Amino acid sequence: MAARIASLARRPASRYTRRPASVWREWAMTLNNLPPVLGLDFGTTNTVAAIPGPGGQPLALPIPHGEAPDGVFRTVLAFWHEEATPRQLEVEAGPFAVDVFLDRREECRFLQSIKTFAASPLFQDTRIEGRTFRFEDLMHAFLRRYRHHTGDHLPVWPERLVVGRPVAFAGIDADDTLAETRYRAALEPFGIPDIRFVYEPVAAAYHFARRLTGPATVLVGDFGGGTSDFSVIRFEPGAGGGQPSADALGHAGVGVAGDAFDQRIVQEAIAPLLGKGGRYRSFGKWLDMPVQYYADLARWNHLALMRSQRTLRELDELARASEDPAPVRRLIGFLAREQGYLLYRAVANAKRALSDAQDTVLAVRLGDDEIALPLSRRDFEAWIAPDLQRIADAVDLCLARAGLAPEQVDRVFLTGGSSYVPAVRRLFEQRFPPGRVETGDQLVSIALGLVGVG
Ligand SMILES: Nc1ncnc2c1ncn2[C@@H]1O[C@H](COP(=O)(O)OP(=O)(O)OP(=O)(O)O)[C@@H](O)[C@H]1O
Ligand SMILES: [Mg+2]
Repeated sequence: MAARIASLARRPASRYTRRPASVWREWAMTLNNLPPVLGLDFGTTNTVAAIPGPGGQPLALPIPHGEAPDGVFRTVLAFWHEEATPRQLEVEAGPFAVDVFLDRREECRFLQSIKTFAASPLFQDTRIEGRTFRFEDLMHAFLRRYRHHTGDHLPVWPERLVVGRPVAFAGIDADDTLAETRYRAALEPFGIPDIRFVYEPVAAAYHFARRLTGPATVLVGDFGGGTSDFSVIRFEPGAGGGQPSADALGHAGVGVAGDAFDQRIVQEAIAPLLGKGGRYRSFGKWLDMPVQYYADLARWNHLALMRSQRTLRELDELARASEDPAPVRRLIGFLAREQGYLLYRAVANAKRALSDAQDTVLAVRLGDDEIALPLSRRDFEAWIAPDLQRIADAVDLCLARAGLAPEQVDRVFLTGGSSYVPAVRRLFEQRFPPGRVETGDQLVSIALGLVGVG
């Protein structure tokens, strides 16, 4: 299987590749030797890799694309066929995959949040354009393309790879051992001799520790796309100014984060426009629209796999029998035209806007219709209240495992993209004494910290 993916991934999609020469030159100057260690934060939404830079400061590998600031590379994959070589399946990743998708739309399969499959025993494989992909095949294809785009900065993989992993993987019946096995299978063909796994919040704690000037007990909360993870670490300064010692006192995690928040927006605001809650007539009786279409709609990792001919046929029959066919037809148009990524982007933008403002408008195309939905932070916070409760329970569990009361924690460091959500920050401001909560380096702290741990 690996060999097949290797051949799939080999051909660069050159017309989608942009490489400003200045980026390469700047980096060629900093990197004369191969890095001894690479920290890899393979995230649900974003992937970042870092190496020790000049002076030992970790540096995120740059990606020569305008939509990859600071080396933050979207964890997405696109698969498609070129007309000239119809038998060959092409694959692209990150912002380059977004370009392919926006160019080709229906002719392309676009996958997001693949990490959410990592620990799922239910996810064996998926069919894409007539081929079978296991999780490890998807991750492998993604990392191959990622390394390709890092170009001269990572001509080969280094001797040691320090890979982040959540404390608890996302997904129903998540099996952490299975996820690690799959990660190893995805990485194995690269031939890296030394692969280590480190909890993502531990890596963030190492990154944060550079701000410390004395001994401190630090709680880190890392809020990503798929998981919210917590670690409590006791740092003691190193003798004679050397490396500080770190003692992990407790960890906890929950598979609830940014994707779950998106899901609430989709369920509450979007799904009713696509027929959720409507009725259809079957054998003389009125029945509720089947819920499974709407459940998958809000799971970014499932959405792209939903557009099968069978699903479209079933929905067509439901539309004919529906009390109000227009929303069901809109759902068919939405799926048939692969508008899932556009919905994802609109929801993520609206959510981000609500981190700064009380109100926003979610603008999106669904089928043939341009929708403009007003959203308020108040509604959003009410929708995500059950998620915030599960996150708060994980924080309390982490403190209990560490055997500490909140007052015994000296510093609290919140990182990850979802730590921008004001209601998430409030959970900590309410729990800890004033002035102890800090944030920063939301999208790169894990990768930079992994280099320090390794
Ligand atoms: N300003 C913002 N307000 C609210 N959410 C945001 C903001 N910026 C980013 N996000 C959300 O943060 C999430 C991505 O964060 P991050 O890159 O830390 O996740 P990840 O590392 O890929 O995921 P994980 O660690 O769970 O595997 C997304 O859900 C994104 O929508
Ligand atoms: Mg993360």
